[in-house]
Amino acid sequence: METGASAREAPVLLFERDGHAVYWLGAQQPTAFRCNAYLIKDGDTGVLVDPGGRTVFAAVREACEKVLPAAALSGMILCHQDPDVCASMTDWLDLNASLTVFTSPRTHVLLPYYGCSDYHWHDVEAQPELSLASGAKLRFVPAPFLHFPGAFVTFDEPSGFLFSGDVWAALDFDWQLQVRSFEQHVPQMDLFHTEYMASNVAARGFVRCIEHLPISAILPQHGGILAREMVPEALNYLRNLRCGLDIIYPDLEP
Ligand SMILES: [Fe+2]
Ligand SMILES: [Fe+2]
Repeated sequence: METGASAREAPVLLFERDGHAVYWLGAQQPTAFRCNAYLIKDGDTGVLVDPGGRTVFAAVREACEKVLPAAALSGMILCHQDPDVCASMTDWLDLNASLTVFTSPRTHVLLPYYGCSDYHWHDVEAQPELSLASGAKLRFVPAPFLHFPGAFVTFDEPSGFLFSGDVWAALDFDWQLQVRSFEQHVPQMDLFHTEYMASNVAARGFVRCIEHLPISAILPQHGGILAREMVPEALNYLRNLRCGLDIIYPDLEP
């Protein structure tokens, strides 16, 4: 994956092989809580990953349509129901009512509060594998209580990319698309994880479920992308994380 030090103009191609590609769609925001949206393109169609809030809809759409028209999209993956992940879902469904929403049951019950309940959806817990038109597979893996009970991550088999949602998210003002130093990135991940993630048990349990995957990069919803050589450190980061309830109720730790 070559993202370039100053590659911030969406879309940015992150992977491409045999008609299967992954793009970063932006969008830049003047906040440490800025968000990443991604597009998995497969042949003539594609799936959005965490398209974002309504304020970034126009920019993400513009970036997407430099790759694929919205009418050609087949779905959107929504890793949990937070507005920064998916408040734009109604705008996307207005553009293309045939989009399938890939999400967990706990997320699905909340999504209609954004104003649209009439859409196709795919239960990622009941059907954790999805074959795309090219034969490429996506795998959905639950990430319970990181931070939402029904949160999940998506593994793209051809690229080895793990779309991790809020897991490994970082808050930073000197954002770069690709993390340059894991060591310097840790305090920025700490800002998010210590406040939002439930507990060390949740983090360690999740690592146990994904550590066997051939992960070539971690693509979070906030902060920079973690390259292949940082994956072992990223897994260790979660194994050793003290967060959430560990900090609030230290006397009740197991
Ligand atoms: Fe969130
Ligand atoms: Fe988020």
